[in-house]
Amino acid sequence: MSDTKILLSDSEIKALDAEYCSWGDTVHYHDEQTIFRNCEGSYMYDSKDTPYLDLQMWYSSCNLGYKNKRILDAVINQYQTMPQISSRFVYDYKALLAEKIAKANLKRYGIKGRVQFNVGGAQVNEDMLKLIRNYTKKPRMFAFMGGYHGRTIGTTAVTSSYRYREHFGHISDTAHFVPFPYCFRCPYGKKCENCDMYCVKQFARLFESEYHGVYDPNTGDCEFGGFIAEPILGTGGYIVPPKNYFKELKKVLDEFNILFMVDEVQMGCFRTGKLWAMEHFGVKPDAMTFAKSITNGMNPLAGMWAKEELINPKVFPAGRTHSTYAANPIGTRAGYEVMSIFEEQQQELESEIARKGEKFLDGLKMLEKKYKNIGTVNGLGFALSIEVTETDGFTPAKKLCDDIIEAGLRGNLSYKGKKCGLILNNGGYYKNIITIVPQLYITDEEIDMAIELIDQLFSRFAN
Ligand SMILES: Cc1ncc(COP(=O)(O)O)c(C=O)c1O
Repeated sequence: MSDTKILLSDSEIKALDAEYCSWGDTVHYHDEQTIFRNCEGSYMYDSKDTPYLDLQMWYSSCNLGYKNKRILDAVINQYQTMPQISSRFVYDYKALLAEKIAKANLKRYGIKGRVQFNVGGAQVNEDMLKLIRNYTKKPRMFAFMGGYHGRTIGTTAVTSSYRYREHFGHISDTAHFVPFPYCFRCPYGKKCENCDMYCVKQFARLFESEYHGVYDPNTGDCEFGGFIAEPILGTGGYIVPPKNYFKELKKVLDEFNILFMVDEVQMGCFRTGKLWAMEHFGVKPDAMTFAKSITNGMNPLAGMWAKEELINPKVFPAGRTHSTYAANPIGTRAGYEVMSIFEEQQQELESEIARKGEKFLDGLKMLEKKYKNIGTVNGLGFALSIEVTETDGFTPAKKLCDDIIEAGLRGNLSYKGKKCGLILNNGGYYKNIITIVPQLYITDEEIDMAIELIDQLFSRFAN
């Protein structure tokens, strides 16, 4: 990375940030800042060219690796041909990307649908909520405890954490939040080996009597239009539900005409080894959203797919949604290239992510045996996690988790005699879960490196 040009020193950047940048985003969750100068493949580089193995990949926005050449070239080409066009007009790559996604879903789910673009995960989730409200005329939604759908005022209404709404009040009805099947900390105190899906049964009980507040058994009318779900909790700590959970849940939704909205913003784009994570669970969405890695981080673009019945031009006509930058040509060009790669490499991606994800998880299981401060490890494909606990293996240990993550960012680890760092992120109900999000092309050697670096960090702080 020796071509890195230093415009400002690290301390000059920090001084400008301290004086002129709002601290309202997430940068200042951390006191100490590591300043990065460059990125490539699985690595970020600081001003001394120290490589940091990145196991968070811009919150899963760069699944195909930093500076992926094919996507970069496509974007440069688009800059040289038609970089700008009003969203008032349709053009080639917008139509082509919509076609790719609609056809991918027809193949996977057997459902014909259409695609609406917007600029980010929160915005497309807003669009999906509008679509469901428009179709059902019901503003109320079910959502998961531990789910995360964005930080606009509308999406915080279906995101369970009150802290995201706390300072802003309400524009829409807050969702009815349903416990996610977080089996390590089962909200009902059950053991998943013999719980018989008790959590789904509890959800179904809501419809037994009018007094449970969601349904009128006399008219058969439910007050709720839809259920918004992440297939695997992302910000909630990379919690993988039991294999049959969504099948059982969907039976209840179908019985009471509740539409199923799937948020694939973080778990889509092969994060779990399938184009969409919900494919693992054998159920079909009525509407779904995608964002982040659809452009591999090259330009803000996100989208909502919905089945024809909900989104055809008669029920969702011109003007029901709009944003100036929706379907921008740089984003759709990048998205088209990403989807082309996914199509061409589907088999290889599926088998390699399954194999390497298993290898990574085996490494984490080895660390779980070694350290009492690891309560459990979890994973599906490359959506992996380590639950950091006290030595009892259960009590959440947030401080220890923070110490480990901060130490990785100091860039003073070593692998095969060379100085390096490790970029990790945390999540979970108690912010004690290390979420592990490698690029999809991570090599076997880099996985060995990752396990060794995580081991080095735990050996500094943990028992
Ligand atoms: C599952 C999920 N939905 C929605 C969002 C919001 O996306 P954005 O940050 O692009 O608004 C995120 C972001 O992390 C997410 O993980």
